[in-house]
Amino acid sequence: MTATPPASEDLRVRPARAEDVAAIFENIGYWAAQGRMLVRPMQNIFENLRDFYVAEAIDADGRGTFVGNGALHILWGDIAEVRGLAVVPHVQTRGVGRALVAACEAEARRVGIPTLFAWTYSVAFFEKCGFTQIDKSRELHPRVWSECLRCPFFGGCNENGLIKRLDGVPMPQNLPEPPPAQVPPGIR
Ligand SMILES: CC(C)(COP(=O)(O)OP(=O)(O)OC[C@H]1O[C@@H](n2cnc3c(N)ncnc32)[C@H](O)[C@@H]1OP(=O)(O)O)[C@@H](O)C(=O)NCCC(=O)NCCS
Repeated sequence: MTATPPASEDLRVRPARAEDVAAIFENIGYWAAQGRMLVRPMQNIFENLRDFYVAEAIDADGRGTFVGNGALHILWGDIAEVRGLAVVPHVQTRGVGRALVAACEAEARRVGIPTLFAWTYSVAFFEKCGFTQIDKSRELHPRVWSECLRCPFFGGCNENGLIKRLDGVPMPQNLPEPPPAQVPPGIR
């Protein structure tokens, strides 16, 4: 997977389309093979396609080349997870990851969700994006915890949990309590 590193002025982030799924799948698969994130089946990407954003490097003729993907997945009325974030290997530290997180944050603001959450090994990057590390043994939102119980690495997780409170986004009114996290069948 190759792409010309973008200058900040020729980077575009847009909602993902069906035709992007193969590139998203390949990019996540690459980083999952490096142990940097969880592998994501192609069916899961299609099912959650409206969560995803794609970053493109724009050439002089206005054509875009895929350089990264990221997703915002709403967990409850007060929290949404930045997930599936990956920048292609040859375009690291050029601002693509930050731009994808900014798109996720803008979407959370648009729908009125006041907190972003992320699981990651890339703590320093998320801190640069305004996130703060939490104590995952004590501070997990019940909906994050529910997702953990479904994860194949439950019990052996060494990812870090970080949150970002979005200034100016109030807690939604009349927010129901989330259901308690439940252990699905087959997991002890
Ligand atoms: C983590 C990742 C998304 C960051 O994307 P990126 O485009 O390289 O990062 P950016 O250029 O937007 O970096 C934003 C800031 O974070 C810093 N940063 C990025 N990666 C960093 C790292 N590994 N360690 C320390 N700082 C880092 C950058 O230097 C920059 O700082 P600055 O604003 O002071 O210049 C990218 O490295 C990646 O795809 N990694 C593999 C997959 C992965 O770990 N995904 C996260 C799982 S949720």
